[in-house]
Amino acid sequence: MSIPRHIAIVMDGNGRWAQRRHLPRKLGHREGQKAVRATVEHCRQRGVESLTLFAFSSENWSRPDEEVGALMQLFVKALDSEVDELHRNGVRLNFVGDLERFDAELATRMRAAMARTAGNTALRLNIAVNYGGRWDISQAARTLAAAALRGEVAIEAIDEDLLGRHTCLAEQAPVDLFIRTGGEVRVSNFLLWQIAYAELYFSPVLWPDFDAAALDAAIDTFARRERRYGQTSAQVRATG
Ligand code: FPP
Repeated sequence: MSIPRHIAIVMDGNGRWAQRRHLPRKLGHREGQKAVRATVEHCRQRGVESLTLFAFSSENWSRPDEEVGALMQLFVKALDSEVDELHRNGVRLNFVGDLERFDAELATRMRAAMARTAGNTALRLNIAVNYGGRWDISQAARTLAAAALRGEVAIEAIDEDLLGRHTCLAEQAPVDLFIRTGGEVRVSNFLLWQIAYAELYFSPVLWPDFDAAALDAAIDTFARRERRYGQTSAQVRATG
């Protein structure tokens, strides 16, 4: 069975999960953390190489202050409580996004967790924070423009391959499977460049209820899909 090398997930539905239980939204995020734990463990067991989770988008700053504050606290607590276990299990943690906007202490802890787990090889866990797909592409363009101005890169050398190599996650396998939970059928400015050939899978399950069985259902669907990369079905079958 074909296992996706790289899975990316938009973890949507925490707020609704809480509201349905007449609980504050922040409790939905807290419950969502349990689903993160279960998903990381299951990906590791199934041999997925990279898992990329959308934890906080560039647009999430516009949520009510209380909710943003609760999410920040959750990230700090998760860094304290989860990193030991992740490290023990061989997970390499990587935060992707513009870390500059975070509280200096939180950004320092994120960098420390990345440094501590940098040698691990069981699973690469990318947590996208203050991330936006358009930001990612524009930061790659800015880096190349600066290199061109310094005379280090020729304008003619700037092509898809070179730009792609300056986007986040470029050194990891391409995203094979893009999952969004919570019933919305949107990409919402998550990995725009990286999902060019990803299989998209939308689940009605709210993120806190997303478990190993739900992930297996997504992986099974992925395994049944025919990935053609622009070729015809007959061509794909001929080349195996
Ligand atoms: C979207 O649900 C979810 C988020 C904006 C936050 C995701 C954060 C977690 C799952 C917390 C734990 C994460 C880590 C990495 C420790 P929503 O609030 O938009 O839900 P709604 O659509 O039902 O309102």
